[in-house]
Amino acid sequence: MPTIEELILRERDRQTHSINLIASENFVSDYVLRCMGTVFTNKYAEGYPGKRWYGGCEFTDQVEQHAIDLAKQLFKAEHANVQPHSGTQSNLAAYMALIKPGDKVLAFKLEHGGHLSHGAAFNASGKFYKFVHYGVRREDGRIDEDEYTRLLKENPDIKLVVTGASSYPRAIDFKRLAGIAREHGALFMADVAHISGLVAAGVHQSPVDVADMVTMSTHKTIRGPRGGMVVCSAKWASKLDRAVFPGGQGGPLVHIVAAKAAMLEEALRPDFVQYQKQVIANAKAMAKAFTDIDSRKYRVLTGGTDNHMVMVDISGTGKSGIEVENLLGEQKIYVNKNFIPYDPLPVTQTSGIRVGSPLLTTLGAKEADFVQVVQLIDKAVNGENVAGEVQKFMADLSSRR
Ligand SMILES: Cc1ncc(COP(=O)(O)O)c(C=O)c1O
Repeated sequence: MPTIEELILRERDRQTHSINLIASENFVSDYVLRCMGTVFTNKYAEGYPGKRWYGGCEFTDQVEQHAIDLAKQLFKAEHANVQPHSGTQSNLAAYMALIKPGDKVLAFKLEHGGHLSHGAAFNASGKFYKFVHYGVRREDGRIDEDEYTRLLKENPDIKLVVTGASSYPRAIDFKRLAGIAREHGALFMADVAHISGLVAAGVHQSPVDVADMVTMSTHKTIRGPRGGMVVCSAKWASKLDRAVFPGGQGGPLVHIVAAKAAMLEEALRPDFVQYQKQVIANAKAMAKAFTDIDSRKYRVLTGGTDNHMVMVDISGTGKSGIEVENLLGEQKIYVNKNFIPYDPLPVTQTSGIRVGSPLLTTLGAKEADFVQVVQLIDKAVNGENVAGEVQKFMADLSSRR
């Protein structure tokens, strides 16, 4: 068994020398990384700034208050809770704050791109609340607003609507969906786990003004430590805080809260907006490159993308999602197999892959680089060995920084 130090070095090497297109991953800055490896991990701080169950929280309080203030500023929100340990924990806290066990909730279908914390039977959300789900239209892959509205009409006991997705490449019109939810007497929650960076930078519509609660992960497009965060209006502040602690968690991970503060400082800089614009431009370049190669071999769902990801039906290659994921992985190109809406294959195989632009964009990649990446993918799918070209691509990218 290699030592943990050795495994850390190997993992760093793997990350440095591979083309990573996993849409939910990113590379944090050295500043964010340093904050995580600090003595704040030694500190217990149950409670909130100024109201703790332990002594010695004077510096912890400053760190957490700084993170809260920056989160409010970045998302233009009245209240923020920076303690959730993950996006899933953020969602569970929001449910606990907004509704009661047994209440009915409308959310986006897992098989159409939703998340397991939106009511999957095997997740706590699906065990404690009654979920009904809307999906996308078969014809164009867009959110089916008619089904969304019909389900609200047919189920007048729906207390909460959850929007947001894991694998949906198009912009979500939160204002419109919130309006429909309100007309039917339901509360509205937006889970922006994937697109939090785009929302923060103003390159995707923000749900903050129209949602009762906005939940997110902090390690995806927003480029922070692994964790979660929730913002809401002042009206829900104390219910949310009680739902996070003591409702669903004990002591906060103070070193991670410090890293979230560092992430938020970075997200408030003008170059962050430029980064998020480039993330979208690069994803669009990837979508076009797949279509240009062969739109039957690589069917880009919805015909393109508005955000950081491209969903591709790869059944035209004659391979399943898992086969493509594995064969690309052997050449050090990382993507994930993904269910596509109305997928005939089981979840362990799938007919699709999901590719994202956030991580390579952090490394400085531009549109032309993403076209090259798609060409490498095609070569690998055709059985060519591209491992050398992958190494050269990554070396070239790092030489430009
Ligand atoms: C829409 C959505 N919500 C919540 C989560 C959960 O995030 P975490 O992995 O931080 O629990 C994800 C993760 O992919 C997601 O896509």
